Order: sequence, then C-alpha cells, then structure tokens
Amino acid sequence: MFASDFLQAKTGRRKLSMVTCYDYTFARLLSQTAIDGLLVGDSAAMVIHGHASTLSASIDLMRLHTEAVARGAGDKLVVADMPFLSFRKGVSAALDAAHALTVAGAHAVKLEGVDGHEDVIQRLTQSGIPVMGHLGLQPQSVNRYGGYKIQGRNGGDAQTILSQAKTLEELGAFAIVLECVPTALADEITAAVRIPTIGIGAGAGCDGQILVIQDLLGMNLDFQPKFVRRFAEVGRMIVDAAGSFDQAVKTGAFPAPGESYR
Ligand code: KIV
Repeated sequence: MFASDFLQAKTGRRKLSMVTCYDYTFARLLSQTAIDGLLVGDSAAMVIHGHASTLSASIDLMRLHTEAVARGAGDKLVVADMPFLSFRKGVSAALDAAHALTVAGAHAVKLEGVDGHEDVIQRLTQSGIPVMGHLGLQPQSVNRYGGYKIQGRNGGDAQTILSQAKTLEELGAFAIVLECVPTALADEITAAVRIPTIGIGAGAGCDGQILVIQDLLGMNLDFQPKFVRRFAEVGRMIVDAAGSFDQAVKTGAFPAPGESYR
C-alpha cells in the first residue's frame, strides 16, 4: 500500500481503514489483516509510556517505535507522527525530523494543523515525503483548548477547519485525519477535497476511519469515549489470563510434567 493508493481509494469510493501501531508484535499481527495503514501515533507517549499528553513524544521516541513497526508491517502503509514542535522550528529542522522517521521505515509522516507551517508541508511533499494532515481536535494543542474538546461546533471554527483542509490539499497532502468534529462538518470537508478524509470521532461520512488499536481492542478499561467501539475485550482477557497463570503457579498446577524438560 502506498500513499497514492489512498487517493485511488477515494476515487474508487473504497473506504480506508487505519489503526495506530507502536510495536513489532502488533505490526506483525496487523500485517495479516486487510487494514490499509498503520499510524505510529504520538499517542505512543500516552498509550505506551503513560504520559498525560502527546506533548512528551520526541523524535527519538517516534523513531524507535517507527523502526519496530516497520520491521513487522509487511506491505502496510506506515505513517509516523511528527511530534510536538518538530515541524515548528523551520523547514530545515522539520526535514531532519521527517528524514529520521523515513529512515526508520515510515512511508509518510503526519503532522497536526497547517497555519504557520505551510512551508514545511510543501517542502516535505516536494521532497518526496507524503504528508498526512490532521485537523479538528489536535491533541498537541491540548493546553490551548484547555482539554480534549470537540472542534468546529461554531460556524467560524467550522469555516476555518474547512479552509485548512483545502489548503492541505493545495500543499500536496495525500490524506487528512479529522478528529472530533461534528459529522456535518466532516461530511462537508470530505465532499470539498479530492484527498481522503480519515475520521476519528468524525462520523461515518469520512473516506476512512482510524482508531487507537488499544481502544478498539478494549485494552484501556477506564477509557470509553463516544467514538470508540470495542471490537474485543482484550483488556479483560489479559487480566483473566494473567490471573489464571498466577493461580496455576501458586497452586503448583503450572508447569505440568509435559511443560518441563527431562
Ligand atoms: O497519535 C494518534 O494516535 C493519532 C490518532 C488519534 C489519529 O493521531
């Protein structure tokens, strides 16, 4: 799968599926599915490392996770997030950051927003690095919002997001993640741009959907926002399986003779 296949999917009205992925084991499992793309999200800072926000993700952290995912991803499109501020320190620094992620195995990079770093987006795409945009709720701006809040609910904000989407298309982005915006706005943006929109909390009208893999697997037991559907209860299974192991060890039932060497 290539970034250009994403554009063709929209033309052919084929829905796109993406999930986040942060390590080799998950990448290998996901490579056996028909999922179109793996996002090495900066959400790794929260989901894997337990930080309070994505602001703690660094290029080094993203590079390590990208390398691990790329080793197991097979033919999946691997998109790596450019972490907080890595694309706000000028074109040269942004190119270095994107270069590191590309060498680590990313086929494309994702970066939040557009205002003030149009030059970066254009230079990346002109340099052969496909760029995925990210509009609506931009988690790296959590301190500006004062929390994780739906964006684009009032007319002015909605118009801004719509015009940012058109700008991303003009700058050469190959897709746009739309996070936590009203369905009607996501539908309007999806109709207004030729590049695919990948929604998370943005309704069914987007050209594709993305979820954090731990969320869709039910591994985050105390996190259930409206837009997450649990397709499995893996968190519960892990707790139960580890509990069964503990029991078996403590009662002497594990290991059995057949699980030991002579
Ligand atoms: O980092 C991430 O997980 C993301 C998704 C929520 C789209 O950007």
